[in-house]
Amino acid sequence: MKFRIANVLSALCLFCGMASAEDQKAPAQPLLKVPPAVFAVGEEYQILVLAPDTLVRLRIGDQFYSDHINGVRPSRKSVHRFRIPMAVLDQAGKYELFCRKLPKRLPYMHETAPEPELSCSYDFRKIPEKDIRIYHLSDTHDRFEAPVRAAQASGRIDLLVLNGDITDKMVNAGQLEYPCILAGRISGGSIPVIYTRGNHELRGEFAEFVQDYTPNRDGKLYYTVRLGPIWALVLDCGEDKVDELPVYGFAIDCARHRQEVLDYMKRVMDEGGFKAPGVKYKLVISHVPFSSLVAFRKEDELMRRRFMIYGDWCKLLRTKLMPDLTLCGHLHQTQILRSNFYPCPVIVGSRPGGAQKFIGASIELKEKAAVVKFSDQDGFAESETVIPWNKP
Ligand SMILES: [Fe+2]
Repeated sequence: MKFRIANVLSALCLFCGMASAEDQKAPAQPLLKVPPAVFAVGEEYQILVLAPDTLVRLRIGDQFYSDHINGVRPSRKSVHRFRIPMAVLDQAGKYELFCRKLPKRLPYMHETAPEPELSCSYDFRKIPEKDIRIYHLSDTHDRFEAPVRAAQASGRIDLLVLNGDITDKMVNAGQLEYPCILAGRISGGSIPVIYTRGNHELRGEFAEFVQDYTPNRDGKLYYTVRLGPIWALVLDCGEDKVDELPVYGFAIDCARHRQEVLDYMKRVMDEGGFKAPGVKYKLVISHVPFSSLVAFRKEDELMRRRFMIYGDWCKLLRTKLMPDLTLCGHLHQTQILRSNFYPCPVIVGSRPGGAQKFIGASIELKEKAAVVKFSDQDGFAESETVIPWNKP
């Protein structure tokens, strides 16, 4: 990552072969809180940039991209979102951000005059065609150091999956940024990231703003993703218990939400994007391992009725999609679940430990099998499981 002055004066001086005085004085400091996060949604990247009180634009090749909102370039929101067709960034392999601090936004003559526009560039590596290395983290619950170390110690990462409960509860505005911060710190803005929301991220007065700070499909937190040979279905269960619990205080409607997710899944199955040429690996990604919530005993009548819908989710996946792997978190355990009624292994892949400990899941998609290792902050893998593909 490299910062430089990108104003007209600088450009003129570069043109005549001289470094401007401003160039020499320019502080090599980013206006960004952390590197950007390149989230994957559908067939586009949503590049989220945390830069408060700053105007940001993005360039790939000769093309500038804007995050304007009905013509207004945002600066008061701390997050900027650039929507880029995957094919454009995949082909370019790099992008550049241009940031100009806007200390005071006025009706006229904003206080930008003394502020230069700084630029920084990022290399980007698209998903390889084979031997894809995924690192999966969930349930970091406001922690950064140990999860970042666990990811970094796992070796090369081609795709980062942040599978929910990155924030413990949304009680202040700054916590909305945590998925972007963790994604940016691990990925350096240079690899794709998939995010799902966890049940803890429905809690607190800022929960209704989560989609403004995370990747989404027109505001929805469930969608499909196509990344090279990977086709993924990102699902969102909402809360992990029934809406009627007094602790939720009438403030959620996840029963309706899960029905809408099911309606969307049916549309996705009918459209059949997972049958497209080049799709080799079909993944389901969900914070809550919903397949384990299907069966409740009689004494949990309310839970049984509320979670019957997960039976419909599972049936649809079993009869229409036949995924190869499902990635989940939520249980604060590392294990691989298998059952008769669910069509593929469920990798539950994050185990928080003490202050300095964290275990995530390294999943390598190889030609004949997936290789799953649960590895900690020092790169130590406690086990290795080979899951042969159940393909003809
Ligand atoms: Fe959770």
